[in-house]
Amino acid sequence: MSVSSAPLMNLELPSKPVQELIRTTAKQVPQKYIYQSKSTDFSDIQYMETSTIDFNLLSSSSSNEQQQELQKLQSVLTSWGCFQVKNHGLSTSLIDGIREVGKEFFALPLEVKERHKRTIDSFQGYGGDTVSDGQNYNWNDRLHLKVHPLQHRNFEFWPDYLPNFRETVEEYIMEVKKVVEMILKSIAKLLNLEENMIFNICGGNEGINMYTRFNYYPPCSSADQVLGLKPHSDGTVLTVLLQDKQVEGLQVLKDNKWFKVPIVPDALFINLGDQLEMISNGILKSAVHKVVIDKEKARTSIATLFSPGPDKEIGPFSELIDDKERPRLYKNIKNYVDVFFQYYPKGERAINAMKI
Ligand code: OGA
Ligand code: NI
Repeated sequence: MSVSSAPLMNLELPSKPVQELIRTTAKQVPQKYIYQSKSTDFSDIQYMETSTIDFNLLSSSSSNEQQQELQKLQSVLTSWGCFQVKNHGLSTSLIDGIREVGKEFFALPLEVKERHKRTIDSFQGYGGDTVSDGQNYNWNDRLHLKVHPLQHRNFEFWPDYLPNFRETVEEYIMEVKKVVEMILKSIAKLLNLEENMIFNICGGNEGINMYTRFNYYPPCSSADQVLGLKPHSDGTVLTVLLQDKQVEGLQVLKDNKWFKVPIVPDALFINLGDQLEMISNGILKSAVHKVVIDKEKARTSIATLFSPGPDKEIGPFSELIDDKERPRLYKNIKNYVDVFFQYYPKGERAINAMKI
């Protein structure tokens, strides 16, 4: 299926990274970044319940423990579409290490980072998000890399000269992949599917498609007028986020209300993406989230995105379609990520175009 109805867009990229903008431009925030001119007060926003899943219990050999944790997972998936995972097996030194290489990259001189600059038609590389005419830029710089399958890496975009960069990213994504495999198996069980079905749709152990996005959110004197990332759901099956250790910023939407995501030290934050909503025929919903900015402190985060390959057609599993009880809600689609990037720059949700 092609989404030929999507109008052609004039896409733009920010002319300089936000990090550079605040260094070289006066205090005034350029109009293109002003998301809302009215000041908003975030102080009365509540925290989401800390729905922390214990990975040890999820993979426990005691079926009782496992069953209880699965039930907990079911409840957070249906109420929030996102959750924290602890005891995930990633060592503190690996977590510190991946944060460190990310920070080292953004600390490099501009001309060095720009050796890995993204272009308007490649989402890999260093830069900001594209927007269409009339849309605001995010207060965010990022380095976006395809990291798996390993042979698909494009090292032009990798700051390989940073000591430990490649090894740390490699070790990190391999560990995160194990966590995601277990989570996707657990979700398949909860949907009464064969346990490998979702993981295999993503490409399985060898072929799974993974992207890592190092996010850098500089502080902003008019923090309440800009957004680090505008409200969106991810175009993935699943996203694994390693939040900043100290600086908050992520918020999730539930029943039309925003909630702050707390920092749980060393936990991984998982959110469901649009493709899981589609393959589950709407039983699960992708989580809408946004990032707000701190007035004084820079925030960093590392998002690892899991998606089926571009040539894989996905759509609701036939097991989850029932003509009477649960008719098919979404079309089948190849390369949803491409479609996603036709809507995201306009601040629109691509998943709405997938509904029947
Ligand atoms: C993303 C995202 C959240 C964050 O990269 O899609 O939502 O806290 N990141 O950086
Ligand atoms: Ni996101």
